[in-house]
Amino acid sequence: MYSPHENMPQTMQHHLPESLVLVIFGGSGDLTKRKLIPSLYQLFKQDKLPIRFSVLGLGRTEYSDAAYREHLDEALQRYLSDGEYDASLAEQFLSGVYYLPMDPASAEDYPKLCEQLKTLDERINNPGHYIYYLSTPPSLYGVIPLHLASVRLNEEGEEDANGAPSAIRRIVIEKPFGYDLQSARELNEIYRKSFHEHQLYRIDHFLGKETVQDIMALRFANGIFEPLWNRNYIERVEITAVENMGIESRGGFYDQTGALRDMVQNHLAQLVALTAMEPPVQFNADLFRNEVVKVYQSFRPMTPEEIRRRVVRGQYTESEWKGEHQRAYREEDKIASDSRTETFVAMKLYIDNWRWQGVPFYIRTGKMMPTKVTEIVVHFKSTPHRVFATADGSTVPNQLVIRIQPNEGISLKFAAKVPGSGFEVKKVSMDFTYDQQMGGLASGDAYSRLLEDCMLGDPTLFTRSDAVEMSWRFFDPILDLWKEEDFPLYGYPAGTWGPKQSDLIIEREHSWTNPCRNLTHSELYCEL
Ligand code: BG6
Repeated sequence: MYSPHENMPQTMQHHLPESLVLVIFGGSGDLTKRKLIPSLYQLFKQDKLPIRFSVLGLGRTEYSDAAYREHLDEALQRYLSDGEYDASLAEQFLSGVYYLPMDPASAEDYPKLCEQLKTLDERINNPGHYIYYLSTPPSLYGVIPLHLASVRLNEEGEEDANGAPSAIRRIVIEKPFGYDLQSARELNEIYRKSFHEHQLYRIDHFLGKETVQDIMALRFANGIFEPLWNRNYIERVEITAVENMGIESRGGFYDQTGALRDMVQNHLAQLVALTAMEPPVQFNADLFRNEVVKVYQSFRPMTPEEIRRRVVRGQYTESEWKGEHQRAYREEDKIASDSRTETFVAMKLYIDNWRWQGVPFYIRTGKMMPTKVTEIVVHFKSTPHRVFATADGSTVPNQLVIRIQPNEGISLKFAAKVPGSGFEVKKVSMDFTYDQQMGGLASGDAYSRLLEDCMLGDPTLFTRSDAVEMSWRFFDPILDLWKEEDFPLYGYPAGTWGPKQSDLIIEREHSWTNPCRNLTHSELYCEL
């Protein structure tokens, strides 16, 4: 269990060190080229990196420094948004990037890493400040910290009068952290032996998204929503995070992981936490994360029978979509032809506390759905007595739609009178979009924000050990039950909204809100 005294003193100021080496385990991998390097380039462009900064990529693929830089330069050109790539800036940035071929699973290779780090320290005059980023297959998450500790690369040295260590040693661990509750506990134990909690940064990139952080601003920087934000006024909450892509080249990872471990236990759980949490007294690492943990602690455990009724898993099957033949999941590269891995999960859950008693939270994620959208829809209760109705006699629902991506913004749906005689009402909306009122959102901001926070030493937006375990504690029984042969796995044709059975978990009279890409004017047209 997490103990608060292990964490960073609340008085400690966050500041960027003057020098730093960022060591990327999995330096030749997908995440490095798609997200990490483009995000670091953005920080470089905005002058947000330490003055003397190097990246050291590690991996089993053989690259020279020059070949590695060339590989990353191509990645920058490919993955930065239009107009963001600048050849001369990229060259400057990449001149501080190095590569060391090594096997992170092999203890014998770590002295070689020490040597290389010493050389880099001399080159950039760095007193041993290192951040390790674990962007490897999850099977290595339990091995690397022990090997780092065996060559003392975990040790921070003496603290100065302000509590700052003589050598910064932080470790960023990608999700999923653990495979289930048991393995997450074992991993936490390994990290506890080799690092202190304040050195650990379990990353969940959803928390780096501006719009996700804005959920807290919406709730806690405004007086108008919070009085309504409870069981008295909210009827149900829906959280959808769907994608119109398959698993691309990640078959090896995905088939071992599945949607629940890949998206639900972490990203969706975080979205539920931010929607449901109590306001922290202050926004800092301890107090914010305490509130997240309290939400996870309140997830109502489900009996096997409830799991069967409230949780639906699916896997995409072949289809004709967008004028092309789409392969079934089982036909994708590196996927077993009889795989029972889920690419879709929908579930209904309850939060057993004072605020949310009896309010269902419906959450859903899936690959190969009609569009890529993440949004939260808060459905308010309707008026106690109906005086006005729409032309077809229905009531207009009051909904607050928090659009995480794309078309980022917030839309409030309510009824207004249709001009003219009589008293017919219709649904209208009040919209805020980042494009119109905030000058848009920078692309790739989530990883940049979190990498910057880690360099600053601010763990607030990273997942604490107790939160990981609490979340697994709730999802573990579902994974256990799924091992039983008779638990259904429903097929859904690629490009559809998932198996029909997912409609059955929504209570009578309601249905899922299938989002359009466009947040605004969705009554008029629906972009997919
Ligand atoms: C990652 C998952 O964590 O999140 C991917 O591993 C998923 O499977 C991705 O595609 C979605 O993130 P985003 O930011 O594109 O919505």
